[in-house]
Amino acid sequence: MAELIVALDVDSRDAAVRRVKEIGEAVDFYKIGLELFTAEGPDVVRAIRDLGKRVFLDLKFHDIPRTVERAVRSAGRLGVDLLTIHSTGARAMIRAAADAAAEFGETRPRILAVTVLTSLDQGDLADVGIVGRTPAEQVAAMARFATGAGADGLVCSPLEVGALSRALSAGTLFVTPGVRPAGAAVGDQKRVATPADAVRDGATHLVVGRPVLAAADPAAAALAIRAEMGA
Ligand code: C5P
Repeated sequence: MAELIVALDVDSRDAAVRRVKEIGEAVDFYKIGLELFTAEGPDVVRAIRDLGKRVFLDLKFHDIPRTVERAVRSAGRLGVDLLTIHSTGARAMIRAAADAAAEFGETRPRILAVTVLTSLDQGDLADVGIVGRTPAEQVAAMARFATGAGADGLVCSPLEVGALSRALSAGTLFVTPGVRPAGAAVGDQKRVATPADAVRDGATHLVVGRPVLAAADPAAAALAIRAEMGA
């Protein structure tokens, strides 16, 4: 069954803890990204874990294999469930991340590869030397490459998840932001899908921020999304 992850896009530990307590039992899984982690460091991960919640650490590691291996080990010791790396770090880096995660056995962090940031278009790819492939082709190629090199899954747009889940082996994780409940404000997301569509297309985890955090009743908003997901 697909799971809802709420993006804790806030700037302090206090705000994060307050939001998690307010949402209560409605959500079990939270994403901590660059803003919050840079402000508060690993203490905020411990604080959310101490509230009994699981953590997706979205720091998009991209460095030499040894550095990423050691960073994944640090994340494993913090007890995170999911973390992100850039697939452009290439085979040895992805392998190093997967091997470091494997040291934690059943409780290991699952490694998610970012393929092509959704903020990039064809011109941006050309700027960084990727020519002869559309962004969609690059996503598909990097998805095959990253999972083949040891990633447990992918972060992907809800518009990509159908094709990717058909192309890749069962058991691959598909973590999908850009999800908006039917009728919700889209904000700055351009390519969105409803929770039901994303799950139908193969998403295993949906990442939702503002539709929950900005709701008058965040717990009710999360439960409504879960109902749409069938979760
Ligand atoms: O508020 P919203 O639901 O748009 O938040 C989605 C979360 O997922 C944010 O933390 C955002 O940075 C992240 N994300 C995204 N699109 C991507 C990758 C990550 O919206 N392609």
